[in-house]
Amino acid sequence: MCGIVAYNGQKQAAPILLEGLEKLEYRGYDSAGLAVRDGEGDIEVVRAKGRLKVLAEKTNEGKSLKGDCGIGHTRWATHGEPSENNAHPHESLHAEVVAVHNGIIENYQEIRSKLERHQYTFYSQTDTEIAVNLIEYYRHKYDETPIGALRRAMMRIRGSYALAVLFKDRPGEIYLARKDSPMIIGVTEGESFAASDAPAILKHTRHVYYIDNMELACLSKGGVTFYNIDGEQIEKEITEITWDAEAAEKGGYEHFMMKEIFEQPKAVEDTLHSVCDGQEIDLKDIHLDEEEIRSIAHITIVACGSAYHVGVAAQYVIEDLSRIPVRVELASEFRYRNPILGENELVIVISQSGETADSLAALREAKRQGVKTLGIVNVVGSSIAREADNVFYTLAGPEIAVATTKAYSAQLMAVYCLAVRFAYVRGKINKEEYKKYIDELSALPEKISKSLEDKERLQWFAAKFGNNRDIFYIGRGMDYATCLEGSLKMKEISYLHSEAYAAGELKHGTISLVEKGTLVIGVSTQNELYEKTLSNMIEVKSRGGYLVGITSYGHYSIEDTVDFTIYIPRTDSHFTTLLTVPSLQLLGYYMSVNKGLNPDKPRNLAKSVTVE
Ligand code: G6P
Repeated sequence: MCGIVAYNGQKQAAPILLEGLEKLEYRGYDSAGLAVRDGEGDIEVVRAKGRLKVLAEKTNEGKSLKGDCGIGHTRWATHGEPSENNAHPHESLHAEVVAVHNGIIENYQEIRSKLERHQYTFYSQTDTEIAVNLIEYYRHKYDETPIGALRRAMMRIRGSYALAVLFKDRPGEIYLARKDSPMIIGVTEGESFAASDAPAILKHTRHVYYIDNMELACLSKGGVTFYNIDGEQIEKEITEITWDAEAAEKGGYEHFMMKEIFEQPKAVEDTLHSVCDGQEIDLKDIHLDEEEIRSIAHITIVACGSAYHVGVAAQYVIEDLSRIPVRVELASEFRYRNPILGENELVIVISQSGETADSLAALREAKRQGVKTLGIVNVVGSSIAREADNVFYTLAGPEIAVATTKAYSAQLMAVYCLAVRFAYVRGKINKEEYKKYIDELSALPEKISKSLEDKERLQWFAAKFGNNRDIFYIGRGMDYATCLEGSLKMKEISYLHSEAYAAGELKHGTISLVEKGTLVIGVSTQNELYEKTLSNMIEVKSRGGYLVGITSYGHYSIEDTVDFTIYIPRTDSHFTTLLTVPSLQLLGYYMSVNKGLNPDKPRNLAKSVTVE
């Protein structure tokens, strides 16, 4: 959802900014731009429509832009089509303020009208151009310092933003402001950096500051000063990033997505080991001690996208094992429907980035109602991680491909741990069963590796059936949750129309779309539902559908019905999603690659959606 980067130091800024933007391209890639200045010289701005490489070519890999202080941007369009004109950085009317922005300014029309009354004109359709002009306007009107003008703008603007701003009369300084959009700041000897995400600056420093909501900062060469919204200087603690920069590189794989699919066993294992030593699941660090667990009357899970699908699987697993009623909701719906949250409710917000605007708003709604909140989050120090009462960190490491894979699986492992622990503490399973479940959880990483071994067959299948128009995924119970994620993966990266259906629901409408050759993927891993799902698959088959069956080893009778079978290792039926989804991820990946697409950067999508 747009990436911003800033550099203020001794070296040439443009190549450093371009390199940083490359690491942020997963956040948006329809246009990009740079603004650089050399000492007290003019601020030079270059923008280009299309991928970052177009900007790199236009600036001769950054060499044609001279200066040691600058800002950069890679865009995911919200206001205004992708074009050079709408690309950032944006300049104010009198070229005194130049800025890059990640976020969305909700009241930009109103501010635009106000500025028009003061003879301001605009060259783009963006909300960002409105912001830079508002800052310039306040500077003049109140004869303000940069921090003063930014503060006034922050109070006037509604919406979300991470802003990096250059002022013409302040060479050697970059100003930052933040509300609800991520931003990280790094400082080393003689140099300072800011970016939307850590991989953009990790090469230069691991010592970072997190700037909070409604705070501002000024980057000098090797220093940073923070201010609150009242303009008072504030102190912040420096944090060290412990994961390796290499974790955010492709490491020999053709795409990040493939690398991340194969990192799943480790992501899942690390997440399990953060709360489980092989004998016990210990949730004390996330303040879920026995008394706390026993007091939970109801759980509401809120999330978006794949994280929502983890919630759907969690609903089945937690309810079945612990008998605590669970409701799962899309964060974008939850926040606007005046949700009823009861006493002793636990609200769990699941989010890889910890920055998804709707999930964050849902968390705030739960907190407003005084309910206990738990974040299951991957990005350390992100907004949801900081604002939730407690955080269960998934240890998936940085995830770069837009379509989530390893973070999804790590989230699943986190909810499995909660389910098993809740069940034991609440007396729904005995010590022996508890131990059996823990053993099964411990075996899952190895079994994921095993299920990934089938990759050549999936590649072959994708090559053969990649031209199908529609794909339907059907399953019951936990397998339905699996289908939701499998279908999303397919449509996000291969642009094939796909839908997930609860198998029993198919005959209430969707089956009318099945004709000769329609691809239907039936997931059937639940022993007690196997026969039922199989009958639904037979219904499809008798209407001419081409059937792919996914089941556990042992269910060999599926081959009498389906045209192509994918087997996954056997596990407890509560945990099969974690073994089935990796095969569906691979299928989506190969379909995408087969069509000549780039699965890491699907059109119109962004990794972290920080707008509503
Ligand atoms: C975007 C991503 C999805 C992700 C969703 C929720 O749409 O493309 O892969 O599942 O956001 O993101 P979160 O960071 O909250 O898990």
